[in-house]
Amino acid sequence: MHPFILTTWSFGPVGNDAAAPGLFAGGSALDAVTNAATVIEDDPAIDSVGVGGLPDADGEVTLDGAVMTNPSACGAVAFIKHYPNPVQIARRIMEKTIHITLAGEGAERFAAREGFECRQLLSESSKDVWEKWRKDPRTIDRDKYKGWLPPINVEELEGVDVQQRRLEAREMRTHDTVSILARDRAGAIAGACSTSGMAFKVPGRVGDSPIIGQGLYVDQQAGAAAATGTGELITGVCGSFLVVELMRRGATPADAITETLKRLQQRYDLVEEHQVAFIAISADGDWATGALRPGFRHTITDEAGTRVEDPKFVLLKS
Ligand code: GLY
Repeated sequence: MHPFILTTWSFGPVGNDAAAPGLFAGGSALDAVTNAATVIEDDPAIDSVGVGGLPDADGEVTLDGAVMTNPSACGAVAFIKHYPNPVQIARRIMEKTIHITLAGEGAERFAAREGFECRQLLSESSKDVWEKWRKDPRTIDRDKYKGWLPPINVEELEGVDVQQRRLEAREMRTHDTVSILARDRAGAIAGACSTSGMAFKVPGRVGDSPIIGQGLYVDQQAGAAAATGTGELITGVCGSFLVVELMRRGATPADAITETLKRLQQRYDLVEEHQVAFIAISADGDWATGALRPGFRHTITDEAGTRVEDPKFVLLKS
């Protein structure tokens, strides 16, 4: 069996390269996805995850994440505000409780009891971006923030033309969820995802990432899939579950992703700022990635090294 790690986005190498030596030495796929996620969550330069995550409309960072190896082995955490590593917490929930998902204050108390370090999450640079957004979304570096539309929660701001601000916000995009799938030497597969969610989201919003079957799904008998992009779209079609179920019925990872993206296209009135991408591994180790629109890239690490590549399939031309 040839082990490999497949991660969403071009920020994947920092995580893949940290996790790969252990995986190649015979470590488990579960350890690989946990380790890769932790390194990415701890990187302040990555502004969609962990310590660098962009906040909600009120300036508060809230994190979601999940980990999974099978329907009977998964854990998830939602809406945590003081702990930068949701994947480790999700794994602890999976390993030490009878539950699958903990959220909010209860999840934070669980993390505290388990000895996770409590810390302030809003980085100086994310605070700076949020303050610019509050003042005027047009000042944001649009080339840097590609991928999906942050909603804008401006009704309560004084002296703001809400309609105009919404139109401006359509042009401002952010990067997104890190989702990681790995296969180990024993042929086992595992997945993890971690996110600060949609930048400047309505406070309280939870996306697809901590909902098993939406942002992540793994079944050793059928395969693994994980998502990135506009969580509201992924959630509505149970995206990752759908990709895995299509593989269970014989589709290749590429065909399963393509069909799921087409389902999104059929079922939603897509607008320009909507972006969704999936990564997938079949039970026999075939893999693929695909995106709704150009702009998404994946990171693959195998024994030949780490490469950042375009997805195998893009549904729409722009
Ligand atoms: N895909 C991450 C989110 O929408 O929260």
